[in-house]
Amino acid sequence: MGLTHTELRNKYKKFWEDRGHKEIPGAPLALTSGDSTTLFTSSGMQQLVSYLLGEEHPLGDKLFDIQPSIRTQDIEEVGDNRHTTFFEMMGNWSLGAYFKKDQLENFYMFLTNTKIGLGLDPHKLFVTVFEGDKKFKALSSPDTESQQIWTDIFTKAGIDVNKPKRIYAYPASKNWWSRGGLPAQMPVGEPGGPDSEVFYDFGENLKLHEQSVFKDEPCHPNCDCGRFLEIGNSVFMQYKKTNETTFEELPKKNVDFGGGLERILAATNDDPDIFKTDVFNKVMHSIEHNSGKKYDATTQIPMRIIADHLRAATFLIKEGVRPSNKEQGYVLRRLLRRAAIQLRDLGVDYKGAAAPDICHAVMETYPTHFVEGNNKTISDVIKDEVSKFAKTIEKGIHALNKLSAVSGKDAFDLYQSYGFPLEIIEELVVKKGLYIDKAQFYAEFEKHKNLSRTSSAGMFKGGLADNSEQVLKYHTATHLLHQALFDVLGADVKQEGSNITGERLRFDFSASHKPSPEEMKKVEEIINQKINDKLPMRFKIMPKSDAEKIGARSFFKEKYPDMVKVYYIGGDDDKPETAYSKEFCGGPHVTNTGTIGTLSIFKTEKIGSNMYRVYAK
Ligand code: SER
Repeated sequence: MGLTHTELRNKYKKFWEDRGHKEIPGAPLALTSGDSTTLFTSSGMQQLVSYLLGEEHPLGDKLFDIQPSIRTQDIEEVGDNRHTTFFEMMGNWSLGAYFKKDQLENFYMFLTNTKIGLGLDPHKLFVTVFEGDKKFKALSSPDTESQQIWTDIFTKAGIDVNKPKRIYAYPASKNWWSRGGLPAQMPVGEPGGPDSEVFYDFGENLKLHEQSVFKDEPCHPNCDCGRFLEIGNSVFMQYKKTNETTFEELPKKNVDFGGGLERILAATNDDPDIFKTDVFNKVMHSIEHNSGKKYDATTQIPMRIIADHLRAATFLIKEGVRPSNKEQGYVLRRLLRRAAIQLRDLGVDYKGAAAPDICHAVMETYPTHFVEGNNKTISDVIKDEVSKFAKTIEKGIHALNKLSAVSGKDAFDLYQSYGFPLEIIEELVVKKGLYIDKAQFYAEFEKHKNLSRTSSAGMFKGGLADNSEQVLKYHTATHLLHQALFDVLGADVKQEGSNITGERLRFDFSASHKPSPEEMKKVEEIINQKINDKLPMRFKIMPKSDAEKIGARSFFKEKYPDMVKVYYIGGDDDKPETAYSKEFCGGPHVTNTGTIGTLSIFKTEKIGSNMYRVYAK
């Protein structure tokens, strides 16, 4: 039996603390709607973008954490041995402190050392490096440096890197990482870099390759047969895209490492099924108990889906997400409804205590994430949603069973009248052995746009669309707007969210009265005065309590660490207390308001009781 998840967490923490790293507070899993361009935190680096681009981090240049994350794009893969929507990403970062050699040597030591690490057998590790991308001059060379570092590491351990071949070079599709995907797809301003992945080999004995659809092709680390499992990715965040054809070096060469906690546990188990690791133990027991069935080849697919989806749902509800028809709420609804269908398939009375009971097992698994009191709310939300769905589920399945062919329109009606998530309809239709006209199905869907916006391409964290110059200008202008609203409307102005694109900025706030056109004119005048004054934009890292004392504005929906970064506009050097605007913020910003150009407020609207939204460009 491998490690428990608590043992793994403790080892990880000690390992990086012993190497001078500071633990950063986790980012929220569900990002605040309106303040963000993506729905969920999907990797540890997401909260660190501005620091990877060169800003100074309040906790220093060596960081680590274990970040709860959600990736909904994999939802249909859930059911195999290794895919989940929710996972925890173990991360470590160097903001210019060290680079390839230290990172690869340290991660190898963590994996293989029997005392301070996990004691994995180094013969089971295979690694990959970037082969270069000829489309971009700066990226055209293969990463021979990492290739050599790995050769030295294995050779020192007495392992021949050629028998069998242990180091593989792949193109950007496999060994390049950025939030926006491949170099060619990345928006201008986005950081990215080549990466080096480590795979754990579960061996030929399990015959995973022979039994897979890939059996006629040679097996290799990136083959999807399941024999090799990626357990860690060291990204060398070294470049920034500066225009459509060019990449330039960032001010610092950074490391961004991420490895799935569940997958690393599976490697310590020497069993490729992540659902058999300790972190799923209680949850699987609860599913077995509630269904009266054992986890085996006949039940594993529904049980894995139930385990993953209810785990994700439990975390989302804890963070305040509630089932609804849009954004995060819709993702939660899909997770709960998909789990209900699978419970039903297993013969469980899905309307009863089963789902809340399984979620309870999730909470027991993570005592540091769930405190007393979470419990009842989470159960109530689940019970309510599942019983609502139960009212239509039988009717929907009955309606579907009556059809002998399913048109796109039929499928859409099932979605709309019975609340079946799209992919469930597809799964049920396929199960019946029926054909479904997918193109028509999606066309119908497109017509009704009130859908979940998933965390797909182009939607990034932090309210910033990218780090282009225009976005930085609007970001600094947002700070001016925030302060000017205070000046004109009074001290009860509270930021509710913001969103910036290359075309405009948007700012939501609450205030005790509706701003008049004259007041908004005044706000605009103040902002343009501050722009004309060409004030410097600077930041200072300070204790949170000091920042609060000098009246720096914070965003009440966000958790801040003990040391914070405060951006201030104007005032004396190193004296944010003398500045016009002071705000808790990670950046990035322009360095002088003079570069912003004239700002015009082109729309103010009421979006709720005492809530207003302004647009400016
Ligand atoms: N950002 C990288 C990833 O998500 C490594 O942390 O894989």
